[in-house]
Amino acid sequence: MNKNQPNNPQNPPDSPPPRRRLAFLNWLKPHRSPQPAGPAANTGPQTHSSPDDLEADYKPLDFKVVRGVLGWMSPFKKQYAITTLIGLSVTLLEILTPRYMEQLIDVDIPGKTWNIFGSMLLWTAGILSPAWKQHLLNLNRTDRAYVNIVLTILVWALTMGIALVLQRLAIWYTTLIGQKVIFNLRRSVFGQLQKLSMNYYDRTRFGRILTRGTSDIDSMSNFIVWGINTLVGNLSLMIVVAVIFIIMDWRIALSVLWLGPVLYFMNMAYRRKVGGAWRRVREAYTRVSTNLAENISGMRVVTAFNRQDQNLDAFNDLQEHNTANNLRAAQINGIYQPLLNVVGFVGRVIILLLGTYLVFHTSRDPSSRPMTVGELIALYVYWDWFMGPVINFGNFYNDTMMAMACAERVQALLAEKPQVADQPAAMLLPHISGDVVFENVVFGYDPAKPVLHGISFTAPAGKTIALVGQTGCGKSTIVSLICRFYQPQSGRILIDGFDLRTVQGESLHRQMGIVSQNNYLFSGTVLDNIRYARPEATEQQVMDAARQLNAYDAILRLKDGFQTQVGERGSSLSLGQRQLICFTRAFLANPRILLLDEATSAMDTATELLIQRAMETLVANRTTFVVAHRLSTITSADLVLVMDQGHIIESGTHQSLLEKQGTYAALYREFTEPS
Ligand SMILES: Nc1ncnc2c1ncn2[C@@H]1O[C@H](COP(=O)(O)OP(=O)(O)OP(=O)(O)O)[C@@H](O)[C@H]1O
Ligand SMILES: [Mg+2]
Repeated sequence: MNKNQPNNPQNPPDSPPPRRRLAFLNWLKPHRSPQPAGPAANTGPQTHSSPDDLEADYKPLDFKVVRGVLGWMSPFKKQYAITTLIGLSVTLLEILTPRYMEQLIDVDIPGKTWNIFGSMLLWTAGILSPAWKQHLLNLNRTDRAYVNIVLTILVWALTMGIALVLQRLAIWYTTLIGQKVIFNLRRSVFGQLQKLSMNYYDRTRFGRILTRGTSDIDSMSNFIVWGINTLVGNLSLMIVVAVIFIIMDWRIALSVLWLGPVLYFMNMAYRRKVGGAWRRVREAYTRVSTNLAENISGMRVVTAFNRQDQNLDAFNDLQEHNTANNLRAAQINGIYQPLLNVVGFVGRVIILLLGTYLVFHTSRDPSSRPMTVGELIALYVYWDWFMGPVINFGNFYNDTMMAMACAERVQALLAEKPQVADQPAAMLLPHISGDVVFENVVFGYDPAKPVLHGISFTAPAGKTIALVGQTGCGKSTIVSLICRFYQPQSGRILIDGFDLRTVQGESLHRQMGIVSQNNYLFSGTVLDNIRYARPEATEQQVMDAARQLNAYDAILRLKDGFQTQVGERGSSLSLGQRQLICFTRAFLANPRILLLDEATSAMDTATELLIQRAMETLVANRTTFVVAHRLSTITSADLVLVMDQGHIIESGTHQSLLEKQGTYAALYREFTEPS
């Protein structure tokens, strides 16, 4: 039998076959891909990854983490048990191959007697037709050999056929269950991300969060889909083959089985070494792709400042590093892989030498246990069946450690408690009129560094409150607190007399609308974006809202009107157009409290005017907080709160503040009087 033929179902240590053959045994990749950090992980803005960018790739087995992973899999216990059983049957069927070969060589080819299938045929013929039985009995030795051979091959083919069908079934079913577990896991991660408060997003980098839902789960998928099957399949294969060795010939068993642990530890050492090398490859690769991404997104700046040459040099430096790391990994691979092959080869040599000795010795000394050529060949073939799982175990352990590191991070995300969450006894906020009161509110994104120092004010329902002050003084922070994106460290925020801490977030947000400083539009059409806050709104209602806001014509002038695709984050629209769409979105939602955090960038007078008018319609009859940079907004506000470094230093109407001759009046003069 040619060991290297492509259909050889074994798993030689030098080139583990693709997973789909003996799939549940060989699910592990022989080599790590050098580019596992997908684009998702590489979109960060930095050119060089700091040590902080790199998260642990491996984690030793930790019972708590394993229990967590098993917990994700447990809803499908029964299904896992079924696939494992099917997988085991496949192993048991496939493991018969060398026995068929043994029979062919020892019994069928010599043709001295009928083989087991021949005997069964004779028995059946005896029942069906005595003449046929007689014909079979009359066959000469060569013809009997042919019948024996054909029968063995037929039964062998049948066995392999059944094994193949069962194997496909096991693969399909295992993949199905694994994918269901992964689906549920991704759903939990997404759900958890939606529950978490803004402070989580402030302190966790975008790339990291993205990794939790994408590559971390991907890295676990092998374990989740194939882990149990691999463990049970390989373990049972190894034990069964070892037992077969001992039963068939204990002398050969003793002489080679010790190589198993040797190979296992060598493989582990190799994995560790090559694992480290691949990790360095990944890091270097991450830097290359991050640099590339940064260059692409900053192309305008690159061109404007003529930085092409320097950037190309910097990119090439990173590339050189990447190439060197790749070569080093290949070098380690080149040294270790042949070493692993040598162990397998030593085993084969021992089996052949000792085996042939036993065959000769037996024929000379009939008193000792006979060893046949068929047995020798069967043992030779079984040897690789024994070594395959040993290698697989090394890989399995390695992949498991990787899966554990990812599982631990995902579990940490899922265990994260949202800073702002509904209290168990939180109540439904009734329909509000929109009184907002701040009572001595102290807040800092980092509690140790407050950015609002004891803010107090009263905003009567239906009025427009303008927040003014220098950049960074805390205007947007006040808006975020009213939205309950964060929890104040002390003081209270009351809406219609209800403390924000005691109400259900959903009932609050339903009555609140926000147009923020960085207006966010989702990819999709203008219509989809306007309808975002009120999906049940009809197209007619959307048009009416746009008309009332005077935004209708401006939207119609877009390439496809309301059906215009806004692009990623609304990138294909101008700032003014985006603002109008966000206004319309807020207007359609018809909130009781409206929060407008104006964009500071200047617009042309026509758009200014358009937005100004839209805003007047928008704010009517609802409590509105406007972070105002536009004079017209401020002058028409019912209350102006002047802020400075987290304090409210003046408040009143535009007129009263002017009369006060304080900071506001000075600012106003500076703004209006030509220098
Ligand atoms: N997510 C955040 N995490 C940590 N600090 C923040 C965060 N957002 C704002 N800050 C800090 O809080 C302070 C107040 O910021 P805020 O955004 O409220 O200013 P602002 O008055 O809205 O300024 P601008 O007019 O420029 O929008 C600033 O010093 C800012 O650096
Ligand atoms: Mg702001």
